Amino acid sequence: MILYTDIKALHTFAGIVKKDGRRPTDADLSTVHEAAMLIDRRGTVVAAGPAIEVKARAARYKTVKRVSLKGAEVLPAFTECHTHLLYEGSRADEFELRNQGVSYLEIGFRGGGIRSTMERTSLATEKQLQASLAARASEFLEQGVTAIEIKSGYAATVEEELRHLQVLRRFAKRSHPLKIVVTALSAHAIPQGIAESEWLDQVLAKIFPFAKKEGIRVDIFVEKGAFSQQSGRRYLQKAQEYGLKFSVHADQLSNSGGTALGVEFEAQSVDHVIEIGEKEIRRLAQSGTTAVLLPAADVYTRLPFPKARQLIDAGVRVALATDHNPGSSPGLDLAFVGCLARASMQMTLAEVLAAYTYNAACAIGLGDERGALAPGRRADFIQLAPGCGLRDLFYAVGPRRSMAAVQSVYISGVRAFSRSR
Ligand code: NIG
Ligand code: FE
Repeated sequence: MILYTDIKALHTFAGIVKKDGRRPTDADLSTVHEAAMLIDRRGTVVAAGPAIEVKARAARYKTVKRVSLKGAEVLPAFTECHTHLLYEGSRADEFELRNQGVSYLEIGFRGGGIRSTMERTSLATEKQLQASLAARASEFLEQGVTAIEIKSGYAATVEEELRHLQVLRRFAKRSHPLKIVVTALSAHAIPQGIAESEWLDQVLAKIFPFAKKEGIRVDIFVEKGAFSQQSGRRYLQKAQEYGLKFSVHADQLSNSGGTALGVEFEAQSVDHVIEIGEKEIRRLAQSGTTAVLLPAADVYTRLPFPKARQLIDAGVRVALATDHNPGSSPGLDLAFVGCLARASMQMTLAEVLAAYTYNAACAIGLGDERGALAPGRRADFIQLAPGCGLRDLFYAVGPRRSMAAVQSVYISGVRAFSRSR
């Protein structure tokens, strides 16, 4: 048992869970002043609340280690619920092309885009891939992230796709106790020289059984130039038959039916959701599906931002993520994402905090264990720097500024990162 004491303000986020992540307000951050937190040996929260009550609870146990957090503020750790971390190579040239007016789709049609990353990634050894993954994951940890979703999706053959998934499985094991959720985005771009239906045949026959065996989620990019709504239907139907959980890259560049499909098949999340209307928003609000917004990618692809205000006000559970990938979102900066959400999408700080904790956890099936510091939940938390509060998060960006308010990050009750000053 560990008892963390001297917490000036413990933001438990219990109210966010109670509202299932919908329309979160400041009150839902459920802040307790002069607080303590008791954690068991498995890294689960036993009690979190007023110091007097938690200390009384701790007195029932024989061996309790006391650790003072010296008057810091504490909040639940973040979940990064949408990344494409497994890749090699840069696509910096395409950024220049896009800025000069060539569209993301056009670059893809010319053989650039996702396909060029497929080529570069196929040349990398497992050792190189593991090293890249580790470096990128540790950048997330330093910002307070303790659970990361990682998609495959840069393989041009199913054999190569299986190799990537194996690399990710091994990375997930190595990274423990950092939680890695692996998603097979095996329908990302149609590899050169193969028909859409033929590629799907192969994926359904060879990747889905593997995903089932290994507990891997799946995802599909439903879009012009990628996979049709019809293919999406086939993919998700099969996924359901296999009992797989899934997300959909939906309505990013055009209204191509991904959101409707995701809601119909009860996807854990629909991601991007830029080109959607009131009908889709209403249906999302009535569903258990989380809408994942990726504003950093919208900047790099010069797309409009999704309608965050309408989504949240309608009662949709909204999450945020970096969408880190070499093409549409080369950054790994949570503060950049949060600042865009606040300044350009009119999300409140409470909404951004919910979007990066409980709501993000729901988007990848971890809503039962993460996102709040309450009994029975994972004791993954952030200790803020002396004098810092929630207002200092998702505020400044830039070297040594982004998320600098994060002093230490704890996973399952144990310190996993501490910032040197
Ligand atoms: O989420 N939209 C499709 N997939 C990624 C981009 C991947 C890439 O361009 O390499 C995204 O933006
Ligand atoms: Fe993506």
